[in-house]
Amino acid sequence: MNLIQDLEILDDLDAPRLTAEEAEGARKVYIETYGCQMNVSDSEIVAAILRAHGYGLTRDPEQADVVLLNTCAIRENAEQKVRHRLDIFRAHKRKQRPGLRIGVLGCMAERLRHKLLEEEQLVDLVVGPDAYRDLPRLLEEAETTGQAAVNVQLSREETYADIAPVRYDSNGVTAYVSIMRGCDNMCAFCVVPFTRGRERSRPVQSILDECARLVEEGYREVTVLGQNVNSYRYTENGTVVTFPELLYRVSLISPELRVRYSTSHPKDCSDELLHVHRERHNVCNYIHLPVQHGNTDVLRRMRRTYTREQYLALVERARRIVPGISLSTDIIAGFCGETEEEHRDTLSLLEEVRFDHAYMFMYSERPGTYAARKYRDDVPLEVKKRRLQEIIELQTRISLENNRKEIGRVHTVLVEGPSKRSPEQLCGRTDTNKMVVFDRQDFRPGDYVRVRITDCTSATLFGEPLGRTTLAESAHTEPALV
Ligand code: 5AD
Ligand code: SF4
Repeated sequence: MNLIQDLEILDDLDAPRLTAEEAEGARKVYIETYGCQMNVSDSEIVAAILRAHGYGLTRDPEQADVVLLNTCAIRENAEQKVRHRLDIFRAHKRKQRPGLRIGVLGCMAERLRHKLLEEEQLVDLVVGPDAYRDLPRLLEEAETTGQAAVNVQLSREETYADIAPVRYDSNGVTAYVSIMRGCDNMCAFCVVPFTRGRERSRPVQSILDECARLVEEGYREVTVLGQNVNSYRYTENGTVVTFPELLYRVSLISPELRVRYSTSHPKDCSDELLHVHRERHNVCNYIHLPVQHGNTDVLRRMRRTYTREQYLALVERARRIVPGISLSTDIIAGFCGETEEEHRDTLSLLEEVRFDHAYMFMYSERPGTYAARKYRDDVPLEVKKRRLQEIIELQTRISLENNRKEIGRVHTVLVEGPSKRSPEQLCGRTDTNKMVVFDRQDFRPGDYVRVRITDCTSATLFGEPLGRTTLAESAHTEPALV
């Protein structure tokens, strides 16, 4: 059985991520991460906690004494993938490595604690997102008792503020920094408030310190993370620091550090925040602004707290205050009760806004959510599939048309590493978060390179490099038509 080979058949978007680093230690841990960026960030914290307790890290599951799957519960197919992986690891344990300990971390652990432990006896360890400090003790417990160890306690305080993450999945150029945990928005479809608990913000200074440390280590881009970063609030010496203020302060750490964030809720994307984008050259011209649907009645059923018109007004405001800002979004097709006409409103919203990119999903009922309790999941699967396909086809066309407009422009690209296609080419992102591929020449990861765009697909830009630059310098010329 080849544990890694099997992993590669998973498709790109949902493919798990592994530690970049290998480290020696008495017992070796292999961590596979599913789901959102927040989960990647959490795995870095898990790796740090285990390293501090003498565990080593490996990228090879065959070498591992402990296998941890950091899981996602957001859609049913995310969970199915993890179950499939668990089956493989359990077979490996049974046939070849009886001493192997298998753990489920994160959102599925929180959601399925009983099922995983009792009914299916699948795993040795079940640990929720707020209990990672307890992992070394739980591993000990599983070891000594031979029984499954579990901690799925959610917390109102835990932010892991003092833990310096072991950078994960890392190219040494871009890093995630978690600034808050949990979510208090009760969107009807979403399991996150149940799996990640109440919203809480990490102390300002610990965020600034971590970002400054990253700059010292040579990182050139941070993405500050939270389920809803706009509601970041931390009281410091009697004054409240809100998200725009925090972002501003992060951007002052270095003029050569790009700053991004994810994810924001349209209901509290303020003018103040937009002005930070406008004023600070290193706060990227890009916002991921999940709309979810284009119809006001559906948005109300989803409990999103804004209407189609309010969302469109926000887009208009963003584009007025920050000219050239790039927007992306999330869309759900086939939510409870969605009529054909309501679906067409999503299509018309996409036409109207013309996002650069969208993540598009079919509605998947999650037990315990408001929608699961109050509505019927009544759009037939075939209809959901067809609607999603229409959404994808439309958005792909729009992304391609937007990208075609980039041809001839010059962008400053932060080089992240070799392109997937060829070692002779590098890839990196524009300020507006578009992936660009170009010839390697003598450029290196971490360089800012001016690239003239010559070609594109709906997902990638291709270009010719014109030379190195600095972020401060490029702030005045970008994006120029040459
Ligand atoms: N079904 C389908 N998509 C969902 N999302 C969240 N919950 C569900 C669900 N139950 C999508 C939303 C969210 C993104 C992270 O995942 O679009 O913004
Ligand atoms: Fe998945 Fe949501 Fe948990 Fe992230 S927070 S891992 S998207 S369920």
